[in-house]
Amino acid sequence: MTNIVEASKLKKHYGDLQAVKGVDFAIRTGEIFGFLGPNGAGKTTTLSMLSTLLTPTSGTATVAGFDLVKQPGEIKKRIGLVPQELALYPTLSARDNLEFFGSIYGLRGKELTARAQWALELVGLADRAKDAIHTYSGGMKRRINIAAGLLHRPEILFLDEPTVGVDPQSRNNIFENVERLNREGLTILYTTHYMEEAERLCDRVAIVDQGRIIALDTPKALIDSLGGGIIHIGLSGKGDAVAESARALPAVKSIRRIDGKMEIEAHRAQEALVSVLEVANRLDANVTSLEILKPNLETVFLHLTGKTLRD
Ligand SMILES: Nc1ncnc2c1ncn2[C@@H]1O[C@H](COP(=O)(O)OP(=O)(O)OP(=O)(O)O)[C@@H](O)[C@H]1O
Ligand SMILES: [Mg+2]
Repeated sequence: MTNIVEASKLKKHYGDLQAVKGVDFAIRTGEIFGFLGPNGAGKTTTLSMLSTLLTPTSGTATVAGFDLVKQPGEIKKRIGLVPQELALYPTLSARDNLEFFGSIYGLRGKELTARAQWALELVGLADRAKDAIHTYSGGMKRRINIAAGLLHRPEILFLDEPTVGVDPQSRNNIFENVERLNREGLTILYTTHYMEEAERLCDRVAIVDQGRIIALDTPKALIDSLGGGIIHIGLSGKGDAVAESARALPAVKSIRRIDGKMEIEAHRAQEALVSVLEVANRLDANVTSLEILKPNLETVFLHLTGKTLRD
């Protein structure tokens, strides 16, 4: 197995702001690799460095074996970038937009026409090819943006939050295309703050927060790291006493306080729940809320950072 991207201690500072604080990761050839993180985590900044649009403050990276800083031209030929912000000419038709972007990549004549047609069909918009982009819905514009990133047959596609603000139909089209292109051999770097998307699409996910990768593994391994389950209990008063006693229970792995609640990391959720409630009862503590968190990436994020992905 080879790595198509290798990043080592990659850092980007904007003045005093450390947007990316030295990240290490590798993307394997042929996988769908996710960057999952909230607003401002540093996803776009990292993607922009890998696309050679931004120069790292320090650290190194290779894409398709080429050095980010020394060989940006070689990298540009081999990557497809679909930016978070749309980059299309509103008054031009979809086909004219695609032919314009294709020509920037050096495509000409019949090959250009054929590639534009292929991309239009791929994203399901061949029948609207002659219409000006400003008549398209947000989701359709995004699909054309993706088509533009694929014209020159890149080895790796960088998708920056491709489903934000798109309708369900376009969203499904994007999912299906990501899966299909990947089956056909394209490596994909997919950034999102939707954990369902990362869970469904990605072979491996880097969870990013405040410029750092705080976990990196398959969705299943990340979720399995939660062990027997996570339970949140709200108590009015006596929280410390309950936590103290509950800590010794065999089904409880660890306990900590977040947002005024008690977070229980359980070896066995059911047993932990029953025995902690018994403790609360015995100590006359009032249970004001009770939540058994679902075993998903949202809970992994909450467990690692103490905050939700979407706040
Ligand atoms: N050109 C810039 N100048 C100064 N600060 C910037 C610049 N671009 C990004 N930042 C800051 O760097 C941090 C990381 O931003 P970045 O856009 O990489 O995050 P993100 O994970 O892509 O977030 P989002 O989900 O909102 O797109 C943020 O605090 C942001 O405000
Ligand atoms: Mg971003």
